[in-house]
Amino acid sequence: MLMLVLVGVLSGTTVYVGIIQAYESRAVSLRTAEIQNQCTILCDQLYSYDYLSDNSSEVINSSLVQLTNIYSGRVMIVDQDLKVVKDTYALNEGRINVSERVVLCMRGQSTSYYDKKNHYIEVTSPIMEDGTDRIVGVMLASVSTDTIEDSLRIFHTKGRLILLVVYILVAVLAMLLSERIVRPLKRITRELEDTTEGYEWDGLHEETYAETKQISDAFNKLLSRLRQIDKSREEFVSNVSHELKTPLASMKVLADSLIFQENVPVELYEEFMQDIGKEIDRENEIINDLLTLVKMDKTAQDVNIRQTNVNDLLELILKRLRPIAEKKNVEMVLESFRPVVAEIDEVKMTLAISNLVENAIKYNMENGWVHVSLNADHRFFYVKVADSGIGIPKEDQEHVFERFFRVDKSHSKEVGGTGLGLAIARNAVLMHRGSIKVYSEANEGTTFTVRVPLLYQTGAE
Ligand SMILES: Nc1ncnc2c1ncn2[C@@H]1O[C@H](COP(=O)(O)OP(=O)(O)O)[C@@H](O)[C@H]1O
Ligand SMILES: [Mg+2]
Repeated sequence: MLMLVLVGVLSGTTVYVGIIQAYESRAVSLRTAEIQNQCTILCDQLYSYDYLSDNSSEVINSSLVQLTNIYSGRVMIVDQDLKVVKDTYALNEGRINVSERVVLCMRGQSTSYYDKKNHYIEVTSPIMEDGTDRIVGVMLASVSTDTIEDSLRIFHTKGRLILLVVYILVAVLAMLLSERIVRPLKRITRELEDTTEGYEWDGLHEETYAETKQISDAFNKLLSRLRQIDKSREEFVSNVSHELKTPLASMKVLADSLIFQENVPVELYEEFMQDIGKEIDRENEIINDLLTLVKMDKTAQDVNIRQTNVNDLLELILKRLRPIAEKKNVEMVLESFRPVVAEIDEVKMTLAISNLVENAIKYNMENGWVHVSLNADHRFFYVKVADSGIGIPKEDQEHVFERFFRVDKSHSKEVGGTGLGLAIARNAVLMHRGSIKVYSEANEGTTFTVRVPLLYQTGAE
């Protein structure tokens, strides 16, 4: 608002000063041209009346008087020897005039000069011999610019008044305008303040201007993202409690059946206690996986990036998992197309790929195979984990990375696992700004591909 007033006042003042100056210089130059014209005409007459030798010519003298009267000025005629032949003020007659402008004019350069302070214009004009360019004298006319000053003064008084009115108008206009401009913003603020309590609100709809519409849209997007996060958090919490409750429930059943049975044989005791031990292990496994996942969710906070030889890393993973594969008689092959060194967090990358290979073994057939390959180009390295296993149905493929998702809950229970492995793997890969994809055909096999940049990239996503 202040800004608007300032702009208004500044531009008003500039225009005003500009007009005044333009008027003044135009008036002065007009007046100068007029005088110069008159002088040129008079100079011609002067020569024809031979006024320089005899200044008694009535015609010329009355013309001079007329000129000085009209413009309230003074005329001096100077001859070739710089002697003043005629002075309408009769002060300098007979004296020598060597003023700069007279001398300049005598050399053929007519001059004009505006003395703003003392309010006069001075014009010199050469008196020339007829037909030749010989200068025989100079006419020096100075005229008052009081009339110009007078009009300027009137201009000023009126101008100031107009300016004042303009300023007031600008101020009022600015006030109204800024009030209008700010109104939607105020509405937005009020709405936001009103709704800080909860998410039960259908968002901002302030569409007065394109800009407020943009703000509203951006805000609504943010709001729906927040809701989504809130929803997935709720889901996660309920999933977690469900998963943690399952082993507990089993233990409860086992314990109860021992307590409420009389004369329980020792063998049954031992068997049930073993089962309870298994459930405890399972509970532990879930908690450990959850902790890994939550730690990873903090993204990039405690990554430990090192130059790592990926070939060695894969070899080690396969070596560790070989015993499980052998149990199922699954053949494991590692194929390295080239040596790869990349900036990665060794522990997290190992976790990710271990999970993929472990799944490839777990969800495989008896006597199946697992094929792990490593390749790279100048920007990324690629790890492919392919298996000859049970495959993942098309409709489940998009869900396998979700927490606790399992294609076949009952089968999964047999082979163990928490349903968190792929979620952990995905988080680890994303942390490296990589990508992970799944290709699978039910009953034929599954391939997971991981692409990770060779150079670690920091910065927000
Ligand atoms: N290689 C694979 N072949 C077939 N199914 C797989 C494979 N990898 C993962 N899955 C399916 O995806 C689910 C999620 O995997 P994951 O997150 O590792 O959990 P889990 O603890 O069950 O292994 C598994 O339960 C399984 O149904
Ligand atoms: Mg798994």
